[in-house]
Amino acid sequence: LSGVITLDPGYKNSGSCTSEITFLDGELGILRYRGYSIEDLAEKADFLEVSYLLIFGELPTVKQLAQFETDIRKYTLVNEEMKNIIDGFPKTAHPMGVLAALTSALTAFNPKSVNVENEKEMYEAVCKTMGKFLVIATWTYRKSMGYPLNYYDNTKGYVENFMRLMFELPTEPYTANPVVIDALDKLFILHGDHEQNCSTSTVRMVGSSHAGLFASVSAGVSALWGPLHGGANQAVLEMLEEIHRNGGDADKYMAKAKDKNDPFRLMGFGHRVYKNFDPRAKIIKKAANEVLATLGVEDPILAIAKKLEESALEDEYFKSRNLYPNVDFYSGIIYRALGIPTDMFTVMFAIGRLPGWIAQWKEMRENKEPIGRPRQVYTGHPLRDFVPTDKR
Ligand code: SDX
Repeated sequence: LSGVITLDPGYKNSGSCTSEITFLDGELGILRYRGYSIEDLAEKADFLEVSYLLIFGELPTVKQLAQFETDIRKYTLVNEEMKNIIDGFPKTAHPMGVLAALTSALTAFNPKSVNVENEKEMYEAVCKTMGKFLVIATWTYRKSMGYPLNYYDNTKGYVENFMRLMFELPTEPYTANPVVIDALDKLFILHGDHEQNCSTSTVRMVGSSHAGLFASVSAGVSALWGPLHGGANQAVLEMLEEIHRNGGDADKYMAKAKDKNDPFRLMGFGHRVYKNFDPRAKIIKKAANEVLATLGVEDPILAIAKKLEESALEDEYFKSRNLYPNVDFYSGIIYRALGIPTDMFTVMFAIGRLPGWIAQWKEMRENKEPIGRPRQVYTGHPLRDFVPTDKR
């Protein structure tokens, strides 16, 4: 091996790139997008504004934001032939699997999007992805319900369109509830970007071979699906519902989570970088209380989540391993209150993370990063002679 290969499984101690997009401090629980604190952005900005900041590096002027929204609206119509692809899936298909397939299929209908050799082509790929991904993400739900697929309404806002695309029926127009739109907008902002997490590193890795943006985002969707990553928000709700069904005995699940012979983990707890409270979890917990109170939703699951959090924060096993609630612990409780079905929770995460994936892919291409190709430490057989079939 030329030089020494440092083995670093899971890249726990490796930096894969330089980036100007997101700053995390795991010890202090700090998260900033392009230098702005997540607390400020969640409270004072809206999702498209933060998407612009992540992707282009600055908070947009009123004119720039209006132009960005106009340019996204140019691409919110999805080719009707994409419906043939979604019709090939059974209703029971998990939405994340359908979304990964549809996102990759976008390349077939936008072949030129693979080459982003200049700023104009890059900007067009960005707007196409922001416009079409939201629509196909909601189609996964509509398909599972046997509902007709909805179209984006270019006269309405991005986040309101999400709720319309999801819930508007030919028999029942969707009426926007500002509390719901505001809560969703905040949740999407909080999921915007998170430096080199598993799915973002995947988007960068795939894009480093100069595969197109749709193919790279499709790979990111697949990586996010895993229960150790974005799939955790669905796993948290399933865990909390199971605890609720079993009489709310959180201690039993705490014991399971600490039992090394039991693969069960307390979903929504722990983080590769945050060895303190995930700043997003704090904001989402507060929002969960506000949204449920405003909507008048009594959800016993929220009480169970709080009880679980309290006992984990006092527990030696969790404290000694710096295990705190992460972004996925409370988000599902809000999604549920907004009527989003559990198997769509990770799709919600993907919609929020889309601008981050785009921003990181764009930065990787603009920085002309080399193709990703790590080495390994070989631990297999030394050279050995071939054994003819009759001697095996
Ligand atoms: C996200 O990277 C990102 O930024 C991700 C994300 C983003 O915005 O992109 O923040 C989003 O993915 C949040 C994380 C969602 N995942 C979960 O909630 C699943 C449950 N959490 C874990 O599986 C785990 O904490 C990870 C995957 C999040 C982090 O795992 P690490 O950093 O590889 O840590 P580890 O598995 O080495 O655990 C260290 C110790 C181990 O015990 P010991 O071997 O030292 O005895 O802590 C234990 C683990 O067994 N542990 C847990 C636990 N998480 C870690 N024990 C019980 N329950 C848990 N949740």
